[in-house]
Amino acid sequence: MTAKRILVCITGASGAIYGVRTVRALKTLGHEVHLIVTRWGEKTLEYETGLSAQGLSTEVDSTYSEVDLTASPASGSFLLDAVVIVPCSMKTLGAIAHGIADNLVVRAADCALKERRRLVLVVRESPYNLIHVRNMAAVMDAGAVVLPASPAFWHRPETIEDLVDSVVERILVHVGVEPPNRTVWKGLNVQSRSTESGLHRR
Ligand SMILES: Cc1cc2nc3c(=O)[nH]c(=O)nc-3n(C[C@H](O)[C@H](O)[C@H](O)COP(=O)(O)O)c2cc1C
Repeated sequence: MTAKRILVCITGASGAIYGVRTVRALKTLGHEVHLIVTRWGEKTLEYETGLSAQGLSTEVDSTYSEVDLTASPASGSFLLDAVVIVPCSMKTLGAIAHGIADNLVVRAADCALKERRRLVLVVRESPYNLIHVRNMAAVMDAGAVVLPASPAFWHRPETIEDLVDSVVERILVHVGVEPPNRTVWKGLNVQSRSTESGLHRR
């Protein structure tokens, strides 16, 4: 598969590990990864994983500050195959839904929508209020994929990483990257005997 250029944005919702493992899966598969971690994304990343945004930036091709609206992802002329916001806070979702492009994450998402490129929002909140739900409907209407951080259990995860990777596999598919040995439901009889499939089994 030709290498894709993908922008990964980590915002301040819980679930920074989804962003970290998305970055690592894309890099392992040979793709070009650009990264933005918001100010609150940095806090949750450090609190939940012990990783710093600076440390994670050493694993990617380019990193940008969320406040730098002169950076390449602020323009639709910068060719990206996909933008994924993982995890995506309700604040960032709301800003995208209403076109309030006052930081680089929202501006890059806005550009993805106007250029008709893939935009995947891995939203995380529980429970949702009606404003969240309406904002999700608005971004879906505009062309985004809303992919909630809702891990599956039918593949019998044994570790947190197994659980997280059930979401990361779906993210890869929706940014246009086929995960190797993708976990596929094969029917109840076959599934209960199968233990060897999936990103997390590599
Ligand atoms: C530990 C922690 C966990 C949070 N979890 C969530 C969450 O799951 N979903 C959410 O929408 N906001 C969550 N927030 C609130 C966001 O960080 C806050 O709304 C922030 O303004 C988001 O900004 P950003 O989208 O620019 O990163 C959390 C904040 C903290 C400190």
